[in-house]
Amino acid sequence: MSDTPVLGFDTQQIHAGSHPDPATGARQTPIYQSTAYVFRDAEHAAKLFNLQEVGYIYSRLTNPTVAVLQERIATLEGGAGAVCCSSGHAAQIMALFPLMAPGRNIVASTRLYGGTLTQFSQTIKRFGWEAKFVDFDDTDAVAAAIDDDTRAVFCETIANPGGVITDLDAISSVTKAAGVPLIVDNTTATPYLCRPFEHGATLVVHSTTKYLTGNGTVTGGCVVDSGTFDWSASDKFPSLSAPEPAYHGMKFHETFGALAFTFHGIAVGLRDLGMTMNPQAAHYTLMGIETLSLRMQRHVENAAKIAAWLETDPRIEAVGWAGLPTSPYRERAERICPKGAGALFTIALKGGYDACVKTVDGLNIFSHVANLGDARSLIIHPASTTHRQLTEDQQIAAGAAPNVVRLSIGIEDAADLIADLDQAIV
Ligand SMILES: Cc1ncc(COP(=O)(O)O)c(C=O)c1O
Repeated sequence: MSDTPVLGFDTQQIHAGSHPDPATGARQTPIYQSTAYVFRDAEHAAKLFNLQEVGYIYSRLTNPTVAVLQERIATLEGGAGAVCCSSGHAAQIMALFPLMAPGRNIVASTRLYGGTLTQFSQTIKRFGWEAKFVDFDDTDAVAAAIDDDTRAVFCETIANPGGVITDLDAISSVTKAAGVPLIVDNTTATPYLCRPFEHGATLVVHSTTKYLTGNGTVTGGCVVDSGTFDWSASDKFPSLSAPEPAYHGMKFHETFGALAFTFHGIAVGLRDLGMTMNPQAAHYTLMGIETLSLRMQRHVENAAKIAAWLETDPRIEAVGWAGLPTSPYRERAERICPKGAGALFTIALKGGYDACVKTVDGLNIFSHVANLGDARSLIIHPASTTHRQLTEDQQIAAGAAPNVVRLSIGIEDAADLIADLDQAIV
């Protein structure tokens, strides 16, 4: 048995993956602003290209600053490995790419970020992939939607925009029985509030653009692998289990075991799709992650105060924060997100669409932007922005009805945020 202590989350968010720079002793992770890396000799180069040795070749695939971030996120999520990429949307494609082929499908929740609904309902069709959307509160419907061509099931931990918590325990028991991987977008919860692998997820994806960076500075994404899925148990995942022609017939799962998905993501995904995270973005995100737990505690504390106040206000029809004692998702929130139900939720205004638009325009501290997970409080009216590509039925299913605004509660003084909402809500 190892004597190495298991470090706590607050320690890991600062230290995991980073060491003083071996060349200079620099304590903070340097921004390795280099496209290429000098090979020791021709044999070293050949081994790197053959994946017989791990190292740096070219920054489209690997970069030392990005590598620290990958290890940090993998550690915080409790995963085997992680691959960072250029955005949350890139991470979704990077997660699906090794699993999918023309004619294959994913079963996805109806409650997803609007851009993801569009990516899955429109764009992936061009690859010959299909998405079937199901209400993930109906576990039997999820099971029924999985067929022989299904290669993944996809949901968000705390669904954007409504703040609804997905029952990852129930969904993962369905995906395990069906032998398909469960991909969880953990952007809105972060590993501080929820670690989806502890609830049976296979892969976690992040938009690091949001809480992980935490201040609205850079876009980025990450795919984390639990390392627990047996890609060779069936012939459904040939990219991971069958010989790879571009690497002399090497089989990723057989060769890399628990790191198969991660190595494939770098050696094939980043190499060929090129959705690379740049080292500057990795640096900003590393800075943000150092304070993740502190920020999330304050985000949740403020969300609780504001949701409780909103619930008593006569102008408000409904408050979607799952941590409220009156929420139908309260029990689930305590089980899936025991440290808090997040800080992203919707409210329905009695005044309808017009009241939403006026409220958004009347706020002073809240910023009207298409983003979430910033230290600043943010607001948006999804039906006229992020979810406007959808039909009204899809908007309602996604929790983005016309009379709904989405709040991303920041870490300012809660009393100031309440006063701002009070003077603006129509
Ligand atoms: C839950 C969720 N997942 C993924 C994304 C996409 O992330 P990005 O904007 O970094 O591509 C977003 C963006 O808002 C999101 O809210």
